[in-house]
Amino acid sequence: MAILFTGIKQLLTFAGDNGPRAGAAMREAGLVKNAAVLVDGGRIEAAGPKAAVMRHRLAKKARQVEVNGVCLPGFVDSHTHAVFAEPRLKDFSMRTAGASYQDIKAAGGGIISSIGAVRAQAPKAMAAQLAARAARFLECGTTTIEVKSGYGLNLESEIKMLKAVREAQKYTPLEMLPTLLAAHSVPPEFKGDTQKYLDYVVAEILPKAAAEKLAVFADIFCEKGYFTPEQTTAYLKEAARLGLKPKVHSEQLSNYGGTRAGAAAGAVSADHADYVYAEDIAAMRDAGTIATLLPASNFYLGLAKYPPAREIIAEGVPVALATDFNPGTSPCWNMQFVLSVACTHCGMTPEEALCAATINGAWALGIGDRVGSVTPGMQADLAFFAADDYRELCYYFGANQNLLTLKNGDVVYPKF
Ligand code: NIG
Ligand code: FE
Repeated sequence: MAILFTGIKQLLTFAGDNGPRAGAAMREAGLVKNAAVLVDGGRIEAAGPKAAVMRHRLAKKARQVEVNGVCLPGFVDSHTHAVFAEPRLKDFSMRTAGASYQDIKAAGGGIISSIGAVRAQAPKAMAAQLAARAARFLECGTTTIEVKSGYGLNLESEIKMLKAVREAQKYTPLEMLPTLLAAHSVPPEFKGDTQKYLDYVVAEILPKAAAEKLAVFADIFCEKGYFTPEQTTAYLKEAARLGLKPKVHSEQLSNYGGTRAGAAAGAVSADHADYVYAEDIAAMRDAGTIATLLPASNFYLGLAKYPPAREIIAEGVPVALATDFNPGTSPCWNMQFVLSVACTHCGMTPEEALCAATINGAWALGIGDRVGSVTPGMQADLAFFAADDYRELCYYFGANQNLLTLKNGDVVYPKF
C-alpha cells in the first residue's frame, strides 16, 4: 500500500541534473515548505508541495503518516571502514597524551595494529558485528554506505572482509557497497617491501575480488610510508581493467600527489583532500573526480587544518562528505556530526553540506541515478528529522535528530 508522508515542514529534494553537483548547483537544495512525499512499491511517486502531492491518484487511498519535521534523502555515506574487529583504544590513549598519527604508527599502532584481531575473527562474527553497526547508521538517517576492506592485508582476510559485507547484507536493510582496500598498508610479513606487497595484491587479491564480484571499487592509500603516486596510478588502472572502479585516499597527511595519480587512473573520487593544491583540484575537475571530504577525521585527530572546501567548490569540483568511520581516525558513524564539522570548520554552507552528504555522496558511489534525491522514480530512501528548518541539522551537534528512516519504502528506524 502507498504511504503518504505529511506534516513535512521542509523538504529538500535535491532535484537537478542527473550527475554530481558542482559550484553554485551545490547550493540548490530544492527546498519545499509544507511538503508531502508519496511512496509506493519502494519508489517515490510524488514529492513537493502538499496540495500538489494530494492530487496524485494514489494519494487518497494511501496510508497517511504525519511526521512533523524536516525530510531529506537518506544520507549516502560514501567512505567507511565499517569492518574492524576491535576499537583502537591504545592509540586513543596515546593520542590524548599528545602522539600524532605518525608517532602512533612508529610505536606499532595504526592500521597494522588492527590486522591481528581481523585475521583472527571468525567470518560469522565479522558479519554479525557489521550488521549490528549497520543499525547505528540507519538510526542516524543513513541509508547507504560504502564499506572498505583493508585490515586483513592478505588474500584470506581481505576476501573474508569483503564476504562479511555480502553476508551482513542479509541481516540489515542498510545498503552496503564493498571496496577492496588491500593496498591500505604493507603488512609486517613483507618487511616494508611495498612493491612486493603490491605485486602480491595485483596477482592474488585483486583478480579474486573482481572475478567473484566481491567489490565494486578498489581503493589505495597514497601517502608517504604507504604507497607512492606511481604505484597508485598503476594499481588503479589495473583495478579498472578488471572492472573495479578506482578510488583513492590522497593528500590526507601531506601533499604527495595521490589526487593527481588517482585522477590519472579515472578515479570516481579522491578522498580526504586536506593538502590539495590548485593543480590537484584542476586534475580532479578535468578527470570528473569527486572530492570526498572526511572532516570528522580531522576533528578526531585534533588537527587545526581542514580540507579547503571553499577552494574546491569554487573551482567547480563536486564535493561529497562522508564519515570515514574507522577505528583509527574517525570512530563516528553519524553523518549529522559530519555536517556540523563541514559547516563550522570547512566553511561549507548548510545547503552545500547537505548536498555533499546526499546526492553527491550517491554519485561518489556511482548510484546518483537511483538514490540521493527525493524526486519521482527514485528509490524511497528518506530520513525525517525533528526540526523546523533544515539548517538545524548542521547547527545542533552531538545528538541524533533523526526521527524516522525509510529504506526502499520500508520503515527501518525506529524498529517497532
Ligand atoms: O581514512 N588513511 C587511511 N585510512 C584511514 C585510517 C584507517 C585507520 O587508521 O585504521 C583513514 O583515515
Ligand atoms: Fe578512509
